[in-house]
Amino acid sequence: MKPKVIVYSRVPEDLLARIKETCSVTYYEKLTDDNHSEFMKELTEAEGVLGSGLKVDKSLLEKAPKLSVVSNITVGYDNLTIRDLTECGVLATNTPTVLDDTVADTMMSLILATRRRVVELDELVKSGNWKASLTQEHFGLDVHHKKLGIIGMGRVGQTVAKRAAGGFDMEILYHNRSRNNWAEETYGATYCSLDELLEQSDVVCLLTPLTKETYDLMGAEQFKLMKETAVFINGSRGATVDEEALIQALEEGEIYAAGLDVFKEEPVPADHPLLRMKNVVTLPHIGSATLETRHKMAQLAADNLIASLSGDNPPTPINPEVRS
Ligand code: DGY
Repeated sequence: MKPKVIVYSRVPEDLLARIKETCSVTYYEKLTDDNHSEFMKELTEAEGVLGSGLKVDKSLLEKAPKLSVVSNITVGYDNLTIRDLTECGVLATNTPTVLDDTVADTMMSLILATRRRVVELDELVKSGNWKASLTQEHFGLDVHHKKLGIIGMGRVGQTVAKRAAGGFDMEILYHNRSRNNWAEETYGATYCSLDELLEQSDVVCLLTPLTKETYDLMGAEQFKLMKETAVFINGSRGATVDEEALIQALEEGEIYAAGLDVFKEEPVPADHPLLRMKNVVTLPHIGSATLETRHKMAQLAADNLIASLSGDNPPTPINPEVRS
């Protein structure tokens, strides 16, 4: 008999068909209040789940006694309490590597948009307010030859460093839990403390995973250390930033601008103060979302699910010790 799985996020048709070759699939394009009770009922029989964002901890695992794999279609896994999954013998998998270039491209677009005021000036032109040659009140700030401080020098951080150092002649500073010799040797990146990075960088790019330690990592004290001409870019998770403190830093001119792909509450409420600020460029948590990359992520998630259910080692496990 084919194992029962729940796919709870939209996945491309070809991949859904592939999963169906070896699994009996219940498919929800997304989880809503309307399908919640049906989903919970299906969960009691499910051996695998695949999708993005489902919070999995002990309380959910107690309702899913047959579960053996949770396949995230994301690289971040702050939705999963890994200790609980491991204790229950459930494999967790994610989708690293395939999205590095796309997320790095998104980070560069936010860096360029904030420093060169691309969105604000686009609005000026389209609203018919380009009346004469613009004066310096509309000029932005350079990107090339500036200092880029990367907080969280993992694979995505390295890929941003590659673009910034190689294409924009930027000097790279970084802060990370451990030293990254590859980034130091290849991109000339300099390791420094968080405070030093904040004080010296023209661009601060936050790419750290969300953990207990990184919750509200950027608060009032940290923004005060940044240069008035520096921009802050967040490509990690919204909860790594104290948004009240960010608003205050922007209002009081402690920093120049912010580029945000993520928010504490998503979708961000339409009346959120950050959305009314000219010097804030926003994206709807879409850093990895190109057609090509989202397909690759879903494909890797499907490979992880299928391999795990057939007793093989999945390509990108988070807690491989479950199998040893
Ligand atoms: C990821 O893969 O973690 C991206 O942020 C999308 O959630």
